[in-house]
Amino acid sequence: MLLPLPCTAIYYPMNFYTRKWVKPEDLNAHGTLFGGRLLAWIDEEAAIYSIIQLGTNGCVTKYMSEINFVSSARQGDIIELGIKATHFGHTSLTLTCAVRNKITQKTILTIDKIVFVAVDENGKPIKHGRTEITYTDERLRE
Ligand SMILES: CC(C)(COP(=O)(O)OP(=O)(O)OC[C@H]1O[C@@H](n2cnc3c(N)ncnc32)[C@H](O)[C@@H]1OP(=O)(O)O)[C@@H](O)C(=O)NCCC(=O)NCCS
Repeated sequence: MLLPLPCTAIYYPMNFYTRKWVKPEDLNAHGTLFGGRLLAWIDEEAAIYSIIQLGTNGCVTKYMSEINFVSSARQGDIIELGIKATHFGHTSLTLTCAVRNKITQKTILTIDKIVFVAVDENGKPIKHGRTEITYTDERLRE
């Protein structure tokens, strides 16, 4: 029998391509993964993902929705970052993000919405003309 998905959250299947190994310099004062470090990793991954999707390295982080730190990671853990495009706007791209522990598969963090905006050389929004997900990095070589 199929179980219904919880109706409080939209479920976007995503691939977990990026892995990080939690090292001593990534820890907070309690000896667990520092949240600020994790957010920096996410922002960089989301930027690279957006560059590939929008075919330009002229894009900036515009918005992040609330961040839910569900569980923590310890030194030596391997974590996986999953990012997926959920909406192509005129100048923006909306992503969703999840991070999980590779060994236990436990969710570490979720971010419902991250928005990147394509900008011109003056930092003004420009139309990116993209409408659907690219699954390879072919666009970087155009
Ligand atoms: C990104 C920036 C150029 C956008 O300028 P802006 O005047 O807000 O632009 P607009 O109002 O035209 O909005 C641009 C797009 O962002 C979307 N957007 C704006 N504010 C948003 C918000 N709070 N949440 C979600 N999307 C938002 C708009 O819907 C629009 O999308 P669309 O064109 O696909 O419909 C400007 O806010 C900026 O320079 N911000 C600083 C970026 C930065 O330094 N980031 C950190 C380092 S990378």
